[in-house]
Amino acid sequence: MHGRGNCHRGQGLRRKHEHFVEVPLNLRVTWNPARIVGVRAMDDQHAIMMETMNELRLALVQGVRRAPANELLDKLLEFTRLHFWNEEQLLERHGFPGLEAHRAEHRRLLEQITESAHRVQHSESLPIGDLLTFLHDWFINHVEEVDRQYGPWMNEREVY
Ligand SMILES: [Fe+2]
Ligand SMILES: [Fe+2]
Repeated sequence: MHGRGNCHRGQGLRRKHEHFVEVPLNLRVTWNPARIVGVRAMDDQHAIMMETMNELRLALVQGVRRAPANELLDKLLEFTRLHFWNEEQLLERHGFPGLEAHRAEHRRLLEQITESAHRVQHSESLPIGDLLTFLHDWFINHVEEVDRQYGPWMNEREVY
C-alpha cells in the first residue's frame, strides 16, 4: 500500500489527463466576514456558488476532462442565473432603492460569464484556468462591493 490512501485513485485520474492544466491553489474561494451579506437565503446561495467554483477548481487540479468540466460550468451558469433572479426579487419585494443599478450589474456580469464560459467550452485546449480566475474575481468583487450594500438596509427592515 502506498503512503496515501487515495494514491491509487489519483493515478487513475492522471491517466486521463489530456487536458490537464495548472490551476493556482489560492483560487479556492472561502468564507470570510467581508463576504457575508447578512440575509440568510442569499448567503446560502453564495455558499453554493463558492462550492461549485471550488469543485471546478479541484476537478482541474486532479486533471479534468472536457465533459465533466463543461457540466460543472453549465451548473455554475445556471445557478448564477437563478441566484441573480432571486436576489433581484428580494430587492424588488422590499423596495431597495439600488435595485436598477444592481440589476444592470447582474445583466452585465451574466453576459460576460456566459460569453467566457462558452468560449472555454468550445475551444480546443480548454483554457479553464483563466476562466476560473475571472469567475473568482467577479464573484468576490460583486459580493463584497455590490451585494453587501443591501445587507444592512434589509437588516434595518428586519429582513435577515
Ligand atoms: Fe448581486
Ligand atoms: Fe449575490
